[in-house]
Amino acid sequence: MALREILIIPDPRLKKECDPVEEVNDEIRELLNDMLETMYAAPGIGLAAPQIGVMKRVIVLDVSDDKEKPEPLKMVNPEIIWESEDTSVYQEGCLSIPEQYADVERPIEVGVRYLDENGKEQEIEADGLLSTCIQHEVDHLDGILFTDYLSALKRNMILKKVQKLQKSKKSA
Ligand code: NI
Repeated sequence: MALREILIIPDPRLKKECDPVEEVNDEIRELLNDMLETMYAAPGIGLAAPQIGVMKRVIVLDVSDDKEKPEPLKMVNPEIIWESEDTSVYQEGCLSIPEQYADVERPIEVGVRYLDENGKEQEIEADGLLSTCIQHEVDHLDGILFTDYLSALKRNMILKKVQKLQKSKKSA
């Protein structure tokens, strides 16, 4: 396993659509493990492959409260197959948009179909934080960031704050 570097906005790779995985092989399993390690180290509750510059439809998540009992989820080619009409608002953040948070409205419940690390098709229903997190990560695979749901004014403000933060990190 290896830690990978997380890309920060406005890296153009974060705005691109990712390719489906054709075969879940050792290379993909290694990618999944690296992504989980990178996510836990950040720390974060979700990570999509384009955030480490790999343009493939792969995401990892762990929304468990208890750090002693990790509940990692590894999803290849995840697809949201249904969503509830009812929505909820969560304050979202993103490892590619450090230290910035904003309210985003999304469907409360979703159904998601994906391939697990053995290439077996799985289907789950999710609500609450897991539902929000899955939708956020699947968005990444289509080049969509949570800031795309905000006004242009707010989005630009966040970008400027992140650029300032990155600059001060580099000079520190
Ligand atoms: Ni994100």
